[in-house]
Amino acid sequence: MPVAIPTMRKHPTWTLADIPYASIEKTRIVDQTDWFYLLAGASFVETLSDLYARNLVEYFQENAAATAWLSREWEQEEVQHGLALKAYVLQIWPDFDWERAYKGFVQAYMPYCQTDLLGPSQALEMASRCVVETGTASFYTMIQSASPEPVLRLLAGRIRADEVHHYKYFYKFFQAYQQQEKNSRWRIGRELWKRVSEVDQEDSYLAIKNAFEVKNPGQTFSGKDFAAFRERMGDWVSRHYPFEMAIKMLLKPVSLPPTLQKMALPLLKRSARKALAS
Ligand SMILES: [Fe+2]
Ligand SMILES: [Fe+2]
Repeated sequence: MPVAIPTMRKHPTWTLADIPYASIEKTRIVDQTDWFYLLAGASFVETLSDLYARNLVEYFQENAAATAWLSREWEQEEVQHGLALKAYVLQIWPDFDWERAYKGFVQAYMPYCQTDLLGPSQALEMASRCVVETGTASFYTMIQSASPEPVLRLLAGRIRADEVHHYKYFYKFFQAYQQQEKNSRWRIGRELWKRVSEVDQEDSYLAIKNAFEVKNPGQTFSGKDFAAFRERMGDWVSRHYPFEMAIKMLLKPVSLPPTLQKMALPLLKRSARKALAS
C-alpha cells in the first residue's frame, strides 16, 4: 500500500556520549530501591525492541516506507533507550548482574511477543502502536518530572522526545491505512481500550520481577509484591503523570468531534487518575 513517508531526520539524534554519566549525583538516588526497579525494568523492555521491530516489520512487510522507518529509525532509537538506561543503572548500582536479569526477562516474556498477536488489521495495529508510544511518552515525562537526580532528568527528557516523535510517525501511518480500511470510531475506540488495558501489565511485571530476583538472590517476586510496588508508586504517579497529555494522544486516532472531546476530557482524566493511582 502506498504510504507517504514523513521526512526522515538523522538517527539517532543523540548518542550515549551526549549523556554526562560522569556527572551523576549518585547519593541522590542510590538508596531508592524503587527507582532501581523502575529503571532496570524500563531498560529491559526497551532493549527488547529489536524483537518487537522484527515482528512489526514482518506484519507490515508489503509497506516499504513503514518497514524502512521501523528498522532504520524506530528500532535503533528504542534499543538506544535500553542501552542508555542500562548504562545509567550500572553507574549507580554497579554490582547488578544486568545481563542475567535481562536474559530471564526475555525468556519469560517471549511467549507474549509474537507476530500473530498483532492486528486485527493494519490500521488498528498502527493505532495500537500509538497507544504504546503514548504510554512511553507519558512514562518518561513522569520520570523527568519526578527524578531526584539531574542526569536522569536529562536522559528522560531525551527519551521522551523520541517517544513523542515515534507517536507522530505511527499516527501518520495509521491515517494512511485508515483511509483504506475506514474503521468506525467505535471499532477504533474498542481496539484502543483493549490495548490500554494491556499496557503496563505483563511486560513491566516480568521486567521488575527479573530485576528483583537477580538483585535479591533466593527471593521470589510475586504478583502481590508487584501490587505493593504499584501502590507505592500510586502517590508519585498521581503527582507526576501527565494525564491530560496522555488522554489527548490516546483520543487522537478516534478523532472525536471537538465538543465531544472537550466534554470527555475531564471525565477521562478523573477516571485515569483513579485507575492509575489505585
Ligand atoms: Fe523507547
Ligand atoms: Fe518509542
